[in-house]
This record gives sequence, C-alpha cells and structure tokens, in this order.
Amino acid sequence: MKGTLVKAMQEMVENEHGQNMWQRIIETSMLGDDFDVNILADVEDEKFKNLLNTTAEVLDISKKEAMDRFAHYFILEYALDTFAINMYFSQSDSAREFLLKMDDVHRRLTKNIDDASPPRFDYEKKDDGSLLMTYNSERGMFELFKSLAEAVGEYFNDDLRIREAGKNTVEIKFS
Ligand code: HEM
Repeated sequence: MKGTLVKAMQEMVENEHGQNMWQRIIETSMLGDDFDVNILADVEDEKFKNLLNTTAEVLDISKKEAMDRFAHYFILEYALDTFAINMYFSQSDSAREFLLKMDDVHRRLTKNIDDASPPRFDYEKKDDGSLLMTYNSERGMFELFKSLAEAVGEYFNDDLRIREAGKNTVEIKFS
C-alpha cells in the first residue's frame, strides 16, 4: 500500500485531534518508523489496517466510524489538495460520473510506481441509472471502499443509496 494513505491519516488526526493524539496512535500501532513515510513509499498492508484499528481504539470510536472519517477526509480534503487531480473532480458533474472514473484514476496514478497494486473496479450500468460497482483487490478492504464511495456522495451533495449486491459488489442509486 502506498504511504499516501498513511499520510492522509496523519493529516486527518493532526488537524482534527492535534499532534499529541497522532503520537499516541503511532506509539500504540505497529507502524514503527514507517509512520514518516514518503507518499510513494511502500507500507505493508497489515500496517495500514492496524493503523485504522489503532486510530479507532485511541479515539474511542468504532472501526466503521474511523473508516468513515478517514474516507471523508481523504476525499473531501486530502485528495483535492495533495494530488494534482483537481481535474478529476472538476471534470465530473456528479458522483456517478466521478465513480465511473475511479478505475482509470487508480490505474493511471499508480502505473509508473513500482510494485503498486491499486484496487480496480468493474462497473455495470443499469437502465434505471443505478450502478453496480465491484471492488477488486487482494487487500480485502471492501468496507473502506464503501466508506469512500459514501464520501464521494457527500462531495457531490448526492445522498447515495448504497447496498451490498454480491461479493465485493455494491449497487449505488443516485438522486
Ligand atoms: C481522486 C480520488 C482518489 C485518489 C487520488 C485515490 C488514490 C489512491 C491511491 C494512491 C491508493 C493506494 C494504492 C496502492 O497503494 O496500490 C488508493 C487506495 C485505495 N482506494 Fe483510492 N483514490 C481515490 C478515490 C477512491 C474512491 C472514490 C474509492 C472507492 C469508491 C477508492 C478506493 C480505494 C481503496 C479501497 C483503496 C485501498 C487499497 C486496496 O483496497 O487495494 N479510492 N487510492
């Protein structure tokens, strides 16, 4: 997993809870020195998953809440600021359009990075405008995938209705 996700988590915790809270989290987590990563560096997937769990523990919130907060921060603050990808947001008029670009975004962002194995997405467009979106990744972070999709809805002010529709697949209805 690229260090960029750890960086986003650090920024979220420091901005919303202060630097001391981040110190407490890294002391409790198994991140070790890897917390000070370059965004392109590799961080073991297990360490990122552990970071999500430790953040939930230290902030005394559920894992789902920690994932939702991370996803919200990642989409609404971090991704907009940090990557030169404002165009992905500005070129999309809706959550549906944006989500349909996500397979391409992950493929392109990581194609020149050695060892990156980004999540990939399959889509099926339904006649009623809803979307079936399948998450493909050996990392098994389907819950985070759902939280991120919800955060995209928030960004575009679209109250998405997301329900599981099979293994690693969600059906998304747009307003
Ligand atoms: C423009 C916005 C986004 C950017 C720039 C972005 C970028 C990235 C990057 C660089 C990684 C690390 C990949 C790796 O280490 O191989 C990642 C991971 C991930 N992204 Fe995104 N992402 C964005 C939006 C989304 C959205 C909207 C979703 C879901 C609907 C999503 C789902 C995930 C998941 C689940 C992972 C964890 C890794 C995995 O499961 O394999 N991302 N993203």
